Amino acid sequence: MDWISKELSRIKDHSPYKRPRKQQDYYKLDSNENIVLDKRFIRAIALKSINDNDFREYPLEHFELLFNKIAKYANLDTKNVGIGSGSDQIMDLLLSTICKEKSAITINPTFSYFIDRCNMYKIPVKLINLSTLDNSLDFESFINESKNKDIIYLASPNNPTGNQFKIEDVINLIEVSKNKLIIIDEAYVEFSDYSLSNLVNKHNNLIIMRTFSKAFGLAGARIGYILAHEEIINIFNQYIQLPYPLSSFSMQLAIEALENIKMTKRSIEIIKQERNTVYNKINQLNNIKIYGSDANFFFFQTFDYFNKIREILFQEKILIKDFGDIGNYKGAMRATIGTKEMNDKLVLALEKATK
Ligand SMILES: Cc1ncc(COP(=O)(O)O)c(C=O)c1O
Repeated sequence: MDWISKELSRIKDHSPYKRPRKQQDYYKLDSNENIVLDKRFIRAIALKSINDNDFREYPLEHFELLFNKIAKYANLDTKNVGIGSGSDQIMDLLLSTICKEKSAITINPTFSYFIDRCNMYKIPVKLINLSTLDNSLDFESFINESKNKDIIYLASPNNPTGNQFKIEDVINLIEVSKNKLIIIDEAYVEFSDYSLSNLVNKHNNLIIMRTFSKAFGLAGARIGYILAHEEIINIFNQYIQLPYPLSSFSMQLAIEALENIKMTKRSIEIIKQERNTVYNKINQLNNIKIYGSDANFFFFQTFDYFNKIREILFQEKILIKDFGDIGNYKGAMRATIGTKEMNDKLVLALEKATK
């Protein structure tokens, strides 16, 4: 076999990424987007972005503007900011450039894209199971297992379980993990209790990864960013990232979203209130174990009711993410917190299915 066919068939051995189905007229609670944020607001900033830009030109001045805005938002300096076409693209780039053929450790379950991309770049990944009792992690054994690993990936809050670990445990992990690249994925940080972005100047091996796809309601615009020590950022911005990783359209959308942050903040408050209400309701149902969430989605086990719940949710035109058995969890599912109307419909459907 020639080398091209060999490489192609090696790649084909991995499980391909499957985009979720788009179903018209369904409540879309499967991808943790912010569907509470007013669509008219996003439309207004999108139209402004169209009007203000000359798309015949490459984006130039947008970079500095966006870096400054993100730095201000994150309480850091412009030299701590890198951007990409979604955090997916940044993660892929980091793994394919500086992490190639190293070894990694993470928790199970977690954001599967990280594991898939590691597989692609021949990075073996050790998985440490979370406790099904309360989604907690045994940090002592995680640290022990990480001794001979090069990369640590932790989503905080974690997807799909929705929880953030105790801040002191995560800080301790960072402090004892010298000489390892630590990626803390804060995709859902706006819904949570804490960020670790203030540590990036202290630890030059720490990368905080963030996105505009979740709280900011801009998943379609594909805007992600990292916060890190300037030593990493310099190399990332000058050598690793593409010269034009984002369109001027998208960059201006992000700038406008940050300038009008009140809109996003209001939606976050609504989602957090709904999070309490919905948790209390689902927690009353038989045959479902729901976990507390620090994000904009819920994770729950449905045990033997998995197929029945799936069927009923589909009949009721509600799309959620159904994992089935994952880690030590049985019949696991994840549902985005949507508008009150959507959440009420989800609760009713779950009630119907678990009677
Ligand atoms: C933990 C986590 N990180 C990253 C991403 C991807 O974000 P982006 O849309 O910026 O690529 C997701 C999306 O589901 C996620 O859950």
